[in-house]
Amino acid sequence: MEYQYANRMEIFGLSPIREVLKLAADPSYISLAAGSPSPASYPVKEMKEIMDRLMEEQPVRMLQYGVSEGYAPLQKALKDRMREKYQTGTDEDRILITSGAQQGIESFAKAFLNEGDGVICEDPSFISALNAIRCYNGARLIGIPVDDDGMRIDLLEEALKREKNIKFIYTINTFQNPTGVTMPLERRKQMLELAKKYHVMILEDAPYFELRYSGEYVPTLKSMDTDGIVAFVGSLSKIIAPGIRVGFLMAPQSVIKKVTKSKQIGDVHTSTLMQAMSCEFLTKYDVDAHIDRICKMYRESRDVMLEALSDIDERVRYTRPDGGLFLWAEMPEGYSAEELQDRMLEKGKVLMITGPAFAATPGRFTNCFRLNFSMPTHENIRRGVDVLKECVKEYLR
Ligand SMILES: Cc1ncc(COP(=O)(O)O)c(C=O)c1O
Repeated sequence: MEYQYANRMEIFGLSPIREVLKLAADPSYISLAAGSPSPASYPVKEMKEIMDRLMEEQPVRMLQYGVSEGYAPLQKALKDRMREKYQTGTDEDRILITSGAQQGIESFAKAFLNEGDGVICEDPSFISALNAIRCYNGARLIGIPVDDDGMRIDLLEEALKREKNIKFIYTINTFQNPTGVTMPLERRKQMLELAKKYHVMILEDAPYFELRYSGEYVPTLKSMDTDGIVAFVGSLSKIIAPGIRVGFLMAPQSVIKKVTKSKQIGDVHTSTLMQAMSCEFLTKYDVDAHIDRICKMYRESRDVMLEALSDIDERVRYTRPDGGLFLWAEMPEGYSAEELQDRMLEKGKVLMITGPAFAATPGRFTNCFRLNFSMPTHENIRRGVDVLKECVKEYLR
């Protein structure tokens, strides 16, 4: 049989990240390539306790179909937490529980994008979100370069003036994936003003915003939104565990109604058991102390990586993130991160992710790479960065 796949499958190709992560599963490699939180951060004992209790006390509720909007006690727990702790969300906003933040982004794109519509995003950005957007009727991605303060606002305004049919701005404004940078308050306000002026929505994707290791908290865009122009995507992947697949979308009621339909055709609802377990963890355990512990662990790993990088060839520029899981490095133009990766594999079996995997504009970031510090041990961070520095020295000679 010759299978006739849909054209949209051409968009995806083979994910370079997945291919690298296959190698990373081999313990003889040192991986600075991961995109995931550390297993040492998972609350295994607590989740087991909760699961046993739920299955003992309410087995039918846990195993029965649920409603697409989500498990009501979890919706309330998330709404309360976002309101009380982060002043985010208004009486008009509702919460849709999604199967990971990824589904929140995908369902939002599905609900909003018509043929030829445009979406503005940071360039580089999170590849799975970009693919979810590209998938809908060939939506156009307009990538805006990022500096140390996130998306360049001057270039955002130029794009809003120039481009037709922009539906929304997709931004990861806190500890961005892949660059690790955070947009300061002043620029957030400017972004919000521009969105209002040009009548486009903002999809604020914030899976890392609670993982801060230094610097001051910056309010979410959603907390400043009085016009229902911002939809906020959150995730429990990085503060509980990614395998539970629980995330959420917070937006005005009418938006949530539409996006719920779009989620419903994907998977009916998110696993009731996982939602109920998340809810118990958020409401009956000290989740803030748990997040503090994770932050302490990642702060140490980040510092080990920054210390190890401090004497790298000065022509390599890199970000110094205040939180999240990654930093981003850039060699001078003309040098290839692929070539550097090959040398690192040969010299010491060290893996990273090269820049083009994150490009909204194909062909960009060939000289860049992303390094992860949440997964490797301190020793492997030092050994991996030593190999990186030696290879950079030889390559840039
Ligand atoms: C920026 C960004 N958004 C969304 C996600 C998806 O998270 P989830 O596991 O909640 O689907 C990730 C995962 O790495 C991410 O980096």
